[in-house]
Amino acid sequence: MKANSNTLFPEGFIWGASTSAYQIEGAWNEDGKGRSIWDTFSHTPGKIYKGQNGDVASDHYHRWQEDLELIKKINLNAYRFSIAWTRILPDGAGAVNQKGLDFYERLIDRLLELGIEPFPTLFHYDLPQALQDQGGWPNRATALRFAEYADVIGRTYGDRINYWITHNEPFVTAAAGHYTGIHAPGIKDLQATLQSVHHLLLSNGLAVKALRGCIKKGARIGAAINLSPVEPASNDVKDQRAAVMFDALLNRMILDPLFFGRYPSELEPFFQMNLPGDLSGDLKIISTPMDFLGVNYYSRTVVKYDPDVPFLELVEVNPRGNEYSMMWEIYPEGLYKLLMRIKKDYNPSSILITENGVPVPEDVDFDGRIRDERRIHYLRNHILQVRRAMSDGVPIQGYFVWSLLDNFEWALGYRPRFGLIHVDFETQERIIKDSGHWFAEVAHNNSISWDLQDK
Ligand code: GCO
Repeated sequence: MKANSNTLFPEGFIWGASTSAYQIEGAWNEDGKGRSIWDTFSHTPGKIYKGQNGDVASDHYHRWQEDLELIKKINLNAYRFSIAWTRILPDGAGAVNQKGLDFYERLIDRLLELGIEPFPTLFHYDLPQALQDQGGWPNRATALRFAEYADVIGRTYGDRINYWITHNEPFVTAAAGHYTGIHAPGIKDLQATLQSVHHLLLSNGLAVKALRGCIKKGARIGAAINLSPVEPASNDVKDQRAAVMFDALLNRMILDPLFFGRYPSELEPFFQMNLPGDLSGDLKIISTPMDFLGVNYYSRTVVKYDPDVPFLELVEVNPRGNEYSMMWEIYPEGLYKLLMRIKKDYNPSSILITENGVPVPEDVDFDGRIRDERRIHYLRNHILQVRRAMSDGVPIQGYFVWSLLDNFEWALGYRPRFGLIHVDFETQERIIKDSGHWFAEVAHNNSISWDLQDK
């Protein structure tokens, strides 16, 4: 069957895959790297599934050349990775570690040689432990340290990089790290959470300014934000109010300050209480314009009013009717709804889908193949919703699968496998999964053909 014209993408569309440093690199204490909060957290008993950690992970620090060849082999024209702050500045500030700079320099230069656009992310959860010891994100000074780090990175690679990503998922850094405590640094405190949100956002504005001062003209800067349409579990007005509140927390708490320089009105009192003083100067910095919005989407969020839950007064529920993965409901239409809503409410000039993917329990079959049909279905159905949003006027320039490789999925350890490429964590052998071959076709054809759905 021939590709239907609706499934074609515009010329130059970006097809990539994403990773992050702590999840794939390993080499946690090599070549002068400092300790990050994830090194500390994962070495703390009881925090991670089966006591696993990222000490070795996918051993990308040693196998990066092979990994870049694999990216080439599956026809991607872009690769999103993160830079480990502690490889560059082992103590978070001050002395620069040349070996750390060299590692990413080799990586970036090889990507460019292979014709793959590098998308470095400056921060993906792995705060230097030294900065945590001085208060971490709840401490305003951390925002200043982040801007200094951005400046070092910008001055080093700014002549070559066309696309920069500052932060990854500030909501998750703040909430999973400081409210639920399931991520490093494992704090459970509302005030620390709101302070973290504010300082993460402030650090973003400061870093954008720092980068603009030293990177090449025309290079584009964005942030990768986890977003999810929030829906009420029923028509009951209490559930509807719960959904509005949770949307304010999950989506608008991050997007409103970035785009409009203000917190959602429902949340203002909480910020006032926990960050006394006039925030207007900070909010002005926070709304420093960026060039694109990175959207990380996995699923929708359905909530129900529950007076027994302190502060939030709501619970997330799992609606029936759709398929589920190991982690979330599979709901491709949510991506379309989200993109239309972003356009309507924020109207960014450019959007990149910086993460989308699904964990699939899978093993290597007798013939050495990994038949991860479910991932193919997931990706196909989500990419079709991206295309649909584009037809309806949403300016989307690219799509990145989470993830390139099977890797360390934070508190869940190595159990959820998100990769287009299988990693045997005993031998570190890589095998391109069926989904990797499928995505290679999509990237090559710059289109999705419908017949693949019945494969
Ligand atoms: C992120 C994500 C990734 C996860 C992925 C699957 O912050 O970008 O947490 O690191 O691995 O979202 O859960």
